[in-house]
Amino acid sequence: MSAGAVSVQALLVAHGTVPAVRGISFEARAGEVLTLLGPSGCGKTTTLRAVAGLEAPREGRIAIDGRTVFDAARRTNLPPERRGLAMVFQSYAIWPHMTVFENVAFGLRARGVADGDLAGAVRRSLDLVGLGALAERPATRLSGGQQQRVALARSIAGDPRVILLDEPLSNLDAQLRLAMRAEFKALQRRLGLTAIYVTHDQEEALVLSDRVLVMRDGAIEQAGTPAEIHDTPRSRFVAEFVGVRNILPCEVAEAAALLPGGLRLPVREAAPDGPAAVCFRPISVQLFPHAAPGAHPATVVAATYLGDFMQYELRCGELAICARGLPRPDFAEGAPVFWSVPADACFLVAT
Ligand SMILES: Nc1ncnc2c1ncn2[C@@H]1O[C@H](COP(=O)(O)OP(=O)(O)OP(=O)(O)O)[C@@H](O)[C@H]1O
Ligand SMILES: [Mg+2]
Repeated sequence: MSAGAVSVQALLVAHGTVPAVRGISFEARAGEVLTLLGPSGCGKTTTLRAVAGLEAPREGRIAIDGRTVFDAARRTNLPPERRGLAMVFQSYAIWPHMTVFENVAFGLRARGVADGDLAGAVRRSLDLVGLGALAERPATRLSGGQQQRVALARSIAGDPRVILLDEPLSNLDAQLRLAMRAEFKALQRRLGLTAIYVTHDQEEALVLSDRVLVMRDGAIEQAGTPAEIHDTPRSRFVAEFVGVRNILPCEVAEAAALLPGGLRLPVREAAPDGPAAVCFRPISVQLFPHAAPGAHPATVVAATYLGDFMQYELRCGELAICARGLPRPDFAEGAPVFWSVPADACFLVAT
């Protein structure tokens, strides 16, 4: 295993008798951002805390940088401070009675860094997050974004190879989230950090990650690159989670989905085993004011202004279809329209 990689095998963590993480395995490769994505309660924080050494798993093995830090069978369990990683929490956990400088220095002192090396290390990490000028500011007199940067500076001050982040941006407003996520990505690349990043925000996961693990109920539902997760969800659960709005249970015939009302949609790939649904994104739906080849008649039941585009809810027999497009006066509520989806935008998932 290369330097900085994290390997997790057959990890099982239970709180009392209830398993929160059910025997999952994954590897974060050196220098990549691996994201755990999933709804509340699916086990993301528990997994991260187990890697950090803050939870005692029942079963499994964890290796960091090729070194075993946890092995249930051999009763190996290194304490957090000996695992060579850093962690950033959602709450930042900043000390309010200390200055920015002292907040970053605190962890280094606790690790026994000598005073002579301390100031330089603190300044370097504050400069890296753009807080060099605020070192002497009391930590309470900072904006949310600045506090988040202090937490980041503190985590990288000890030169970790691996950084674990649990929803680090979720306390920030929308604009700051976007700015901070770009800054984090740039910093991670520059320092060559391996990052395991936890979020329930699918867009954040897709933008930041090299690979994504979608978790459900303590297990990994799907693993892949952001493009694979976004474009080819394998299950209804993942499709819903990555914002595919049209998920229509169907019968499957050769290269087509058969829908109620005799509707037939060509699909781009083979069917999964068992019951299936055909999926497509609202942006893939083409709308026409008049009959067009391969297009199905429908009625606009709602046209909602969303800024850059309109969202159109259509009724097509017993099907509800969601489409997005530019505002058009002839697609007003109650108007008849015709819709189609290109075959390469339609995929099947197991339900
Ligand atoms: N200390 C605890 N004691 C008992 N159960 C717990 C404890 N911590 C977490 N759990 C349970 O374990 C499961 C996984 O929790 P976890 O915190 O890992 O979820 P999560 O994916 O991080 O969710 P969120 O997005 O809400 O942070 C949940 O069912 C939760 O209720
Ligand atoms: Mg959590």
